[in-house]
Amino acid sequence: MTRKPLPLLSSGHSGGSRSAMTCLYRCGNACDHPAPNESGNEYFGDMARSEVSRRGVLQAAGAGAIVLGLAGAGVAGSSEAAEAAHGAAENAANSWRPGRGPQPLTFGAVEPNTADALTVAAGYAQSVVIRWGDAVVPGAPAFDAYNQSPAAQEKQFGYNNDFVAILPLDHSDRHALLVCNHEYTNEELMFPGFTGLANLTVEQQKTAIAAHGMSVVEIERVRGTGQWRPVAHGRRAYNRRISALSTKFRLTGPVAGTASVRTAADPAGRTVIGTLNNCSGGVTPWGTVLSGEENFNQYFVGADGAPQEAKASLDRYGISTATRYPSGSRQWDKADPRFDLTATPNEANRFGWIVEVDPFDPDSTPRKHTALGRFKHEAANIVIAPDGRVAVYMGDDERFDYLYKFVTHKRYRPGDNRHNLTLLESGDLYVAKFSYTSAAEIDGSGKLPGDGAFDGSGVWLPLVKDNRSMVEGMTVEQVLVHTRLAADKIGPTKMDRPEDVEANPVTGHIYVALTNNTQRGTAGKAAADEVNPRNANKHGHILELVEDRGDHAGTSFTWSIPIVCGDPADPATYFAGYDKTKVSRISCPDNVMFDRSGNLWISTDGNAFGTNDGLFAVPLSGPEAGHLKQFLTVPKGAETCGPALTGDGESLFVAVQHPGEFSGASWDSPASVWPDGDHAKPGIAVVWHPDGRSIGR
Ligand code: FEO
Ligand code: CA
Ligand code: CA
Repeated sequence: MTRKPLPLLSSGHSGGSRSAMTCLYRCGNACDHPAPNESGNEYFGDMARSEVSRRGVLQAAGAGAIVLGLAGAGVAGSSEAAEAAHGAAENAANSWRPGRGPQPLTFGAVEPNTADALTVAAGYAQSVVIRWGDAVVPGAPAFDAYNQSPAAQEKQFGYNNDFVAILPLDHSDRHALLVCNHEYTNEELMFPGFTGLANLTVEQQKTAIAAHGMSVVEIERVRGTGQWRPVAHGRRAYNRRISALSTKFRLTGPVAGTASVRTAADPAGRTVIGTLNNCSGGVTPWGTVLSGEENFNQYFVGADGAPQEAKASLDRYGISTATRYPSGSRQWDKADPRFDLTATPNEANRFGWIVEVDPFDPDSTPRKHTALGRFKHEAANIVIAPDGRVAVYMGDDERFDYLYKFVTHKRYRPGDNRHNLTLLESGDLYVAKFSYTSAAEIDGSGKLPGDGAFDGSGVWLPLVKDNRSMVEGMTVEQVLVHTRLAADKIGPTKMDRPEDVEANPVTGHIYVALTNNTQRGTAGKAAADEVNPRNANKHGHILELVEDRGDHAGTSFTWSIPIVCGDPADPATYFAGYDKTKVSRISCPDNVMFDRSGNLWISTDGNAFGTNDGLFAVPLSGPEAGHLKQFLTVPKGAETCGPALTGDGESLFVAVQHPGEFSGASWDSPASVWPDGDHAKPGIAVVWHPDGRSIGR
């Protein structure tokens, strides 16, 4: 076909570095609206003024915790088989062992670029594993952009892959389940002849709804190479599409069955159709996958007609109560009336949860765990506390929103899958409040204080404890459904968009990606503090949190900031004290991952320098601590998601989300032609080194 000229690229959008198209499709133009946290919960400065010693990233303390993640073997088709698979999964996880201290990251850094390509470090190879529209469920039709349908999309790989989990099916690291989230849709890039969201047919709207959700895909490594591919048709016993159109989810926990989640279609308040805006996630020690429902607000309309008593919460979650169709609305009410909050005001309460999917049991009903609270969940990652209880760390990705932790009531029992699958149904929910060592010195410039560190201590403030509400005037049901409003009342610290939160498996220390917050310090907004130390924070930072006594079920911690992102030539950046002339520039950290040596890998979304997003690696201890280098960049317009490593460290999976997402781009006139050279399609790629070395070595 004749190549069409590329559209003019947008110079960005009001809220940051992303194109207007990203803002519209992914967040419902969140940056154009006020940050929803208008609460009077301002930060009151140094709470305890306790001096903590500088320990931070340069100290590799032993961990009193187990950080697990991998899963195992078996065949699908029966609960016994699923049980066997989980048993093997746990064996694989428990046999995991860290490398012998930090391993050097020897790759040469990839330079910033705007190439329409997945660019990997010299010597490494890459290939596409699966892309939007590829067959997932047996019987899936071949992708045809001109004949898309909801039925076809429910059998094909969904749109905008974000989180990626690789769950091994045997101990060879050559056969695995790939589980991923399909966060949102770019209708403009999906449908030929697109002329506006309001002009889509109901069939197209339902196709887009079906393109949301998750996929489970059985994959194998191609013999003699580092390439991976979906297994041959007919062997896909585990393969599954979970969609927003038809997959039933069961609500668990204190909110299940309550008035807040009952609707005319579900008078029992226990069964929700679909999951929405699944961003990142985590893998549990018992071999299931957790997924965060993030910007669910954008799918609802008609909140102007919702009952008055519901409006404070709708506003706090970014659902406009001022108009029927907010700007950029997908108007899904035309395809499914449940998206109209005038008619079904409780439907919004059925999204914004952490969901758990058991990929080893393709017939299982995925669940939404209400005990973990409702907000714009980025992800959920688990650490087992010394006493066996399970701690789940979670960020609420919105400017000035909070960092949360959930601690189960019950203890993890290795090998007892039936029991472990109930762990997330009851527990205590906390939100983080930070205190500081250098509060008076923080001027918003990013200048390090005199003690040489952005650091301090903090506490986990209880929201729900022992099945009782800890928030005056709110019931447990109210706290868990309207968690943001509940948290506002007890004074947690307003953060710069908490994204992924994960534990380093070598040290047990927790790392938080705070992606950016250009409104920090602007009129009427919270000013910089020591844990969010820059006003107009364009580039974000990485927070390290160390639970006191290594007790992940506890309520106190110390913290520091090992990395303040940006251009290393900018004095307002920090890379754990490393020589800044040798580090890569980095902007807008989003997902974090660890390799077997405990090196931190960081993917970015929204690079405020205008070059492509990428994946970076940085040692956290030893003489190389802070030596951050860019390992790969994704095609233009794309965000780097995943990432995930196989247990042997030889295969790195990276999700290329929304390639070519620029204002003015379309299916017919794409701004990226990744991955196939014709149109822009989200997809998952794998990276390896031909000599079989571990990624990054
Ligand atoms: Fe979907 Fe917070 O990124
Ligand atoms: Ca300090
Ligand atoms: Ca994200």
